[in-house]
Amino acid sequence: MDRRTFLTAAAALAGAKSSISTTALAAEGGQPVRSTPLRSTYYGPEFYDEKELEQLCDVLSKRQPFRWYGPGKQPPMKVLAFEQELAARMQTKYALAVTSGTAALTTALAALGVGPGDEVILPAWSWYACFNSIVMNGALPVFAESDTSFNIDPADLESKITPQTKVIMVVHTLGNPADMDAITAIARPRRIQVLEDCAQSLGGSYHGRPLGSIGDIGIYSFQIAKTISSGEGGAVVTNDRLLFERATRYHDLGLLRPPHQARLGGAALEGMIGNQYRMSEFTGAVLLAQLRKLDTILAALRGHARRVYEGIADLAELHLRHRPDPAGDTGSTIWLGFPSQAHRDRFSTAMAAENVPAGHPLDAALVPLQPCAEHKLTSHPLWPSFTSERGRSIRYGQECCPRTIAVHQRFAGVTLDPKYSRRDVDDIVAAIRKVYPAVIRA
Ligand SMILES: Cc1ncc(COP(=O)(O)O)c(C=O)c1O
Repeated sequence: MDRRTFLTAAAALAGAKSSISTTALAAEGGQPVRSTPLRSTYYGPEFYDEKELEQLCDVLSKRQPFRWYGPGKQPPMKVLAFEQELAARMQTKYALAVTSGTAALTTALAALGVGPGDEVILPAWSWYACFNSIVMNGALPVFAESDTSFNIDPADLESKITPQTKVIMVVHTLGNPADMDAITAIARPRRIQVLEDCAQSLGGSYHGRPLGSIGDIGIYSFQIAKTISSGEGGAVVTNDRLLFERATRYHDLGLLRPPHQARLGGAALEGMIGNQYRMSEFTGAVLLAQLRKLDTILAALRGHARRVYEGIADLAELHLRHRPDPAGDTGSTIWLGFPSQAHRDRFSTAMAAENVPAGHPLDAALVPLQPCAEHKLTSHPLWPSFTSERGRSIRYGQECCPRTIAVHQRFAGVTLDPKYSRRDVDDIVAAIRKVYPAVIRA
C-alpha cells in the first residue's frame, strides 16, 4: 500500500470510528449503518464464469464423462489434471479426487487402517460426517473439547488418549487453523496418526504450510458452502506413498488404475476391498476452473478480514476467536466473543437492525448433542463400535463437552464475502464499533 492509499484508508477508518460513538443503535430507534441488509453468498458459484463453462463444454463435446475411459481418442483428463494441480497447490506429493468430503473422510480413515477396536479422537465441535465416517469404518469416536479457536483443545485431546487411539481427527473449523504444533507434539511420540479435516478451511495454512499437508493425511470438501465448489466433491491429500495407494484403491473398488500406478511408480499392495467414490469428469472440470480461482477468493477474503480486524482493534474489552496463526485463517468470518449467551443474542439482534447481520454457530456442529452421537445410532445393531465394553462406557451428549457448548453459545460472527466492496467492509467495521461496546457495557 502506498502512502496516499494508506492515508485515504486511514481517513476512511477514522471517519467510521468517530461517527459511531454518538449514534443511537438502530434497534433502539437510531439510524442503521446501512439502508439494506448486507448479504454474503456461496463463494464458489459466485465466481463461476466462462472458465467453468469451457471446461464443462469440453467434457460434453468429447463425450467423456467418466474419468478412466470413454469414446474420445485421448483419455479423459479433467479429474487427473485437477488432482495434479491440487497436489501442487497443497504442497503434497499426492492428491486423490473423490465424490464428497464425507467420502474423503471415510477413504482417509480406511487408508489409515482404522477399523473395529480402534478409537478416533475428534472435536466436539465438528460435523456429522466426522462422527459418521468413524462409525462407518467400525471404530469408536471419542470426543474432545473444542476451545475458543473452535478447534480441538490439545490439552483435552491428550486426556482422551488410550492404547486403542489410532487417529486424531483434527477439524480446522470455519477457516481457522487448529494448533498443529501442539497437536503433532502430542501425536508423534505416541505414533498416533493425524488426519486433518479441512472441509471448512480449504486454502487455509498454518505457519506457511497449507492445511491438509501437515498431518499424515488431509481431506477437503467442495460442497456448495466451501471455499470453492462443484456442488459436491471431495479430495484426499498425503505425502505418504502407502497411504495414497490405500486411499486410491479404497475409493475405486480396490483397484489401482494405470495413471495412479504410474504416479506411485508401481504398486505395493496386491489388492484391497474398496468402495466406489470416483469423481466424474464433469465435477473435475468445474473444480479445475475453480481451483485456479482459489487464491483470488482467498486474497479478497483475507484482505476484507484484515481491514475489519484493524478497524475494530482498539475496541475496549474486545474478545475475538482465538487464532493460532492469524495469517493462515481463510478470513471467511469475523467471530466475536461475549460474556454470556444473552449478550451474544443482544448483539445479533442489534446487528440485524443495523443491516449488518451477525450469525450464530450452527447447532448441528455440536455433534455430541445430535441423535447420531447421543443415541449411538448405527447402521446395524451389531455394529462393533458401540457394543464393545469400551463402546458402552464412552459418554456422549452434553456431559462430554460442557466447555465446547459454553464457547459455542458465546460467539457471533459476521460472514465476509470475497465480492464485498470497500464500502461493505467499512459498514461491518462501523456496525461492530457501534454495537459491540454498547452490548458489552449493557
Ligand atoms: C468439517 C466437515 N467435514 C466433512 C464434511 C463433509 O463434506 P461433504 O458435505 O462434502 O460430504 C463437512 C461438510 O460440511 C464438514 O463441515
